[in-house]
This record gives sequence, C-alpha cells and structure tokens, in this order.
Amino acid sequence: MKEFKRTLITTALPYANGPVHIGHLAGVYVPADIYARYLRLKGEEVMMVGGSDEHGVPITIKAKNEGVTPQDIVDRYHNIIKNSFEGLGISFDVYGRTTSETHRRTASDFFRKLYEKGEFIEKTSMQLYDEEAGQFLADRYVTGTCPHCGNEHAYGDQCENCGTSLNATDLINPKSAITGNVPVLKETSHWYLPLDKWQSRLEEWILKDHKEWKPNVYGQCKSWLEMGLQPRAVSRDLDWGIPVPVEGAEGKVLYVWFDAPIGYISNTIDLVGDDYTKWWKDPETRMLHFIGKDNIVFHCIVFPSMLMADGSYNLPDNVPANEFLNLEDDKISTSRNWAVWLHEYLEDFPGKQDVLRYVLTANAPETKDNNFTWKDFQTRNNSELVAILGNFVNRAVVLTHKYFEGVVPAAGEFTEAETNLFDEIRHLKDELSAALDTFHFRDALRIAMDMARAGNKYLQETEPWKVAKTDMARTATILYTAIQVCANLAIAFEPFLPFMAAKLMKMLGMENIDWAMLGGTDLIPAGRKIGEPELLFEKIEDGVIEAQVQKLLDTKKANQLKAWKPEDVKEDVEFETFEKVDIRVGKVLECSKVKKSKKLLQFSIDDGTGTPRTILSGIAQSYPDPEVLVGKEILFVANFAPRKMMGIESQGMILSAVNPDGTLTVTGPTAPVQPGCSVG
Ligand code: MF3
Ligand code: ZN
Repeated sequence: MKEFKRTLITTALPYANGPVHIGHLAGVYVPADIYARYLRLKGEEVMMVGGSDEHGVPITIKAKNEGVTPQDIVDRYHNIIKNSFEGLGISFDVYGRTTSETHRRTASDFFRKLYEKGEFIEKTSMQLYDEEAGQFLADRYVTGTCPHCGNEHAYGDQCENCGTSLNATDLINPKSAITGNVPVLKETSHWYLPLDKWQSRLEEWILKDHKEWKPNVYGQCKSWLEMGLQPRAVSRDLDWGIPVPVEGAEGKVLYVWFDAPIGYISNTIDLVGDDYTKWWKDPETRMLHFIGKDNIVFHCIVFPSMLMADGSYNLPDNVPANEFLNLEDDKISTSRNWAVWLHEYLEDFPGKQDVLRYVLTANAPETKDNNFTWKDFQTRNNSELVAILGNFVNRAVVLTHKYFEGVVPAAGEFTEAETNLFDEIRHLKDELSAALDTFHFRDALRIAMDMARAGNKYLQETEPWKVAKTDMARTATILYTAIQVCANLAIAFEPFLPFMAAKLMKMLGMENIDWAMLGGTDLIPAGRKIGEPELLFEKIEDGVIEAQVQKLLDTKKANQLKAWKPEDVKEDVEFETFEKVDIRVGKVLECSKVKKSKKLLQFSIDDGTGTPRTILSGIAQSYPDPEVLVGKEILFVANFAPRKMMGIESQGMILSAVNPDGTLTVTGPTAPVQPGCSVG
C-alpha cells in the first residue's frame, strides 16, 4: 500500500434545485463525515470539500415553472442545504458553490488549458431546436412518446416509466417543453472530450491497479470500459452555466458535468488559495470521492479523463460509492416529494441529529439498495441507542454519583473481569479501525456498539450495586473501570455520533481526544469530579413516529390529486378516429416475465378467436408476481401493428392505468363478459 501524507475528501456536490434528503445523507455525506472525523482523530491532515452544484437544466426548468430566475432558485436551496448540513454536524472544511467567481474562473481556465493543448475535438451534430423560442432544446426540454414502452410523457433524456435513458431525437412525436411546438433539427457544433483517448490508461489504472475498489464501483467501471469509451460533449447550447471561454462560442456554456467536479478544485482554492496544489497535485496527497452510484461514471471515467488531459493533477485513490436508500419501500423522489428532508427532520427532531446519523449508518446502502422506515428508526433509537449505549453511560455516571459523590474513585488492583474487558475493547478498536479504513461504516458502527455492549455485560456481571453493600474498595474499581469505558465510548463514537460524544466528553471533563487514546485504561483520572448524569438519548414514542408516517401518507394523497388537471386533457377527437382503435376484452390464460427483460411481461390471452394471442406489456415492475393476472379479464388493443421485442412477437397492447407513482394497473370489465367482445 502506498503511503500518503494527507487526504482530500470530496463529497458529491448536491444540485441546488431542492433540499437534501436522507438518501443523499446515507449515500454520501454521513459516510464521508465519519471518515473525515476518524482521520482527524488520528491526527491526519484532512480536507473535506463540499458545495452546491448550481448549473444544469433542471434548475432552469424549476425557475421557469416558478417564474423566477435560476439564480433565485440556487440561492434559496444553497442556503437551505448548507445550513442543514451544518445542523447535522457534517464537518466540511469548505462548502462552496458553482456560481462563485472563483469557480467561474477555475472552470474557464481548466477548459481553456485543455482547449489550447488540443485535447478537445469539435464536432457538429443535429439538435432539436425550438424556432419560436429561438433556442436549442436540452434533452430535458423535450417530451414525447417513449420508443420502448409507449409512455407518452417521456423526457428527452429518460423515460421515467420504463427507466430507459434516451436521446431527445429518439422520442416519437417530440414536443418542446417551452412552447409545445414540434421542434426542428438544426445543426450545432460542440466540443467533445475524447474519452477513447484515455481508454487504455483508465483500464490500467482502474482494472489493474485498483482491484480493491468496492465491487459495485469496479464492476460499473469495467462494464463501461468493456463497452468502449466514446467522445463526450462538454458544452451545451444553454443560457445557464459558465460561458465556453473561447471565441465563437456565443450562446454556449460548459456542460454541467464538466464544470461541477471542477467545483471541488474551486472550493479548495476558496479555502486555501494557491496552496490548493498541495491538495490536488502533490502525489503524496490521497484523494477520495464520496458519491452515490449514479455518479460513478463521472468520477471514475469522465473527471479522471479531464484530469489526465490536463496532466498536472492526481487521480482519486478510491471512490467508495454507495447504492441507493429507499423510503418505506418506495424510491426516494424529489419531484414526488417522497423523501425525509434534512431541514424538516432537524426541525421535527431538535437535538436528535445523532439518531438520524446512527440509523442512516446502520442502514447504509453500502453493498445494495437499502430501506429506511420510521418504525426501524424508532426501534433503533429505543432498543439500541437508549437501551445499550445510553443505558450503559447512564448507569456508570449515576452509580458514580450515588456511591462516590460524582468523584471518580481510585481503582484497586484489576481482576480478570477488568483485564478481559480492556482486552476486548482494544480488540474491538483494531476491528473498528480496520472497518473504517476500508469504508465499511455499517460494520464499524456495529463494532463501536459492541464496546457499549461489553460495558453493559461488565456491569451486569460485576453488579456494583450489590458489591457496594459489602465492599467499597471493589465498588471503586468497578466504577473507575466503567467511567473509563464511557471515555472510550466517547472516542469510538465521535466519528458517528459527534453530538453525543461532545455531551459525554463534557460530562466526563475530557478536553482533547484522539484515536490513540482509544483502548486506554486511565483516560479519566481518579479524583476528578464528573458532571451530573444527563440522558444521552431518550425514548421516541409511537405518536411521534405515527405523525411522520401520516406526513408520508399525506404526500401520497397529494400526489394522487396532482396527477390530473382539466387542462391536461388531450385534444378532441372525432368518433371516427376513436373507432379506428379496435379495443376488445381478453381473458388471461398465462402471464410470465420475459427472460432477461426487467420490464416485459408475456401474456397469452383468450381473445375469443379460439387461437391464443401473445401480447407483451412493459408492466413487469408493477407485477412482481405476474401469476395474479391469470384468469383476469383485461382490455387490449387488437389492431396494434405486431411488434417484435426480445425475439417475441407482440400482437396488440394491454390497456393499463398509470398510477401517480408510475406503477401500472391492468384494466378490465367490472363483470365477466365473453372474451373477444369489442369495447366502444
Ligand atoms: N449534482 C450531482 C448529482 O447530484 C453531483 C455532482 S458531483 C460533482 O448527481 F462532481 F460533479 F460535483
Ligand atoms: Zn419508456
């Protein structure tokens, strides 16, 4: 293993088009903060960089919808985000923003250097253009029918129904989101970073030299590299962003994914000025990118290619990306307001920052997607934080007050119980360090909790409340020991639960702590008067949890009401037009998943002709158990031109209701009818 002198920790810059939620926290900021605090406790030189990502099309769309400027939007959310991170104790050394002047200059210089070195290629392409608005349309500004699943409200970059990523030019019946007009194709030219130029260096660097990266990260890189890298456009026709700093680039800005990662550099410069080179260019600095899984390609392939093209920067040493966190078994979604927002949590649960930090770490989606539920939040608080950690510290401090007036007694000779306990704590410390060193934060938290468990077990076995009746000298040894364990817990938990640690340190009169002290048997000297016992955690009652669950149920309801407005109704049609569609009733004979397809179900339908009809439908995600549809009567379009998908010919289309959450429900008659009946 290479030795490094210092560590630069970057955390994905959240888009300033909404507040941050528990998914962001569990995936990026809580693990990064744990790691940064751990290194600081070890006395290492660390910088943790964060900031808001304030460019990109979604911000312009939000501004347009609200009738304000993009700057208004990012000002609003940058402040909410920054304050809420502070509230949760995320210990950024700097939290900047990509609309800052430093960033504009840094990103422009970066682009210009690559431009002058001839690292870009310039290419023309045909892009959708709104003639009435007089502008090119970013993919997000185009809607139309998804060529894969037929969803009529797909966006130009992605169909939210089937999840396929798209190019705006793939959409059937594309429409401009600005004017509703049909866009035209118009030529435009852009600068591209030829990722293919870096393919072999990336392969060597990641696949050969960084086999230790997390399997989810390594695997994604490998599959990108195996597909073969292509040049990527780094500019856009847009009026929100950093102007492309070369002549003849009027109306063009840097692509948000080009400027945002440079934000890490700009924010470093904001903090330390010219010294930024020490953090970015000195080979003895180790760089780590903390991100969510949707950011892997940008941090492992695209940004490193930019850094290699520049030639003077370090590459990241590791990119410990996480999977996603779901909320109550449903995907977190900003647009559907399906989230626990950090700024709201901090208001609803004052003083309970560590509870959220604890639950998110215990459920961190480190190796697979994971789930947050309010019930689990309550259970982990009540039966872990309160019952194990809080209970141990409370007993130790209360008993010290009861028997020794709050003065730490001098210990007599240690018996086996004490030596075993401290051996175990030192052993757990080694395990804890190893887990933290390898970014296994869930395990690390469990190990820290084992220290508290060991403390409880010790008190259970030594029973100082009984011993005190006969042997005060022995009681002194036990409580001296228990107080030392409390001090150890303050250190072990500081990275995870910094608010609790600060409170506990204050109670014990500890001032400076570091990791080397962990495992110590004499952290709190005998004779010290400790503070009054204060509860570190308190029980969370059912009513509090029910209120949060109710809030989510209200969101679900509001989403349903939002689903449809009178003005959403489609254009009028004549009866003759309607009549052209041959809708009939069919009875489901068989229904199963199509192999290798996430979306498709294969139906065999009794359509009344005597020959079963095969229809494929992109609803698999809504029917994890497709068997439930067998025997049901459903509506289908009989004269949909046959289409082959995954090698199977589909003869028609099943009619489904689209729920507000994007799931689909197959529709059918309300009473049994003869299969084959026409509907009209
Ligand atoms: N704003 C991006 C997102 O939320 C992350 C940007 S990370 C950076 O997905 F590297 F570009 F800054
Ligand atoms: Zn689709």
